[in-house]
Amino acid sequence: MADSVDVAHRLLAPRIAYLIGTTDENGNANLIPVSNLTSVSTKPQQVALAVLKQWRTYENLLAADGFTVTVPTIEQLESVWKLGARYSKFPVVDPVEKLASCGLELDYDASSYGPIVPSGIGSLSCRVVARIDLNGDHGITVGEVEQVWFNAEYLTAEGKPKATTHPLMQQTGNLFTTSAEAMATVDYY
Ligand SMILES: Cc1cc2nc3c(=O)[nH]c(=O)nc-3n(C[C@H](O)[C@H](O)[C@H](O)COP(=O)(O)O)c2cc1C
Repeated sequence: MADSVDVAHRLLAPRIAYLIGTTDENGNANLIPVSNLTSVSTKPQQVALAVLKQWRTYENLLAADGFTVTVPTIEQLESVWKLGARYSKFPVVDPVEKLASCGLELDYDASSYGPIVPSGIGSLSCRVVARIDLNGDHGITVGEVEQVWFNAEYLTAEGKPKATTHPLMQQTGNLFTTSAEAMATVDYY
């Protein structure tokens, strides 16, 4: 079992492959899948993400005032895989070209922090409130949510699903899955 410790994170699967939008110091947008993301506060609303220090997005996040988060659907798998070019080996890694060839329509104006994908389940625009370096291979960024877009195709104005949503979830490597039909439990209220 001890030999498995370096792949222990695989136990925490499947996880949603969120799309993180950033902008570099020259104003060029980037968008990459990141599964290492979670909510860490609800009052105020804050999320934390972990990005490998060798990625451009890590460089962007070191200087940026904020970032965006989009939740893609399982139908958007091929595009998300292309956006993760340096992981998936999709040959186009330059962000400008990659975003133009990923096959998703992007909104560059909704947030000044980075692009969002309006056809996703929804998006966040977050202001960076902390950068944490624990001397691991990833850097941690905490963002406070300034804006949220719930896509009315999938969610109510309160963010509740109209029907079961099917976010894109990574199991490991190029193996993906999504949610099954929703189940309600006994109401104890
Ligand atoms: C499904 C999926 C999930 C990923 N999750 C993460 C992650 O949580 N953290 C990370 O640093 N990279 C993650 N990656 C890898 C980056 O998205 C990928 O290497 C990207 O091309 C980096 O691009 P950049 O150098 O332009 O920022 C993931 C890739 C895929 C396909």
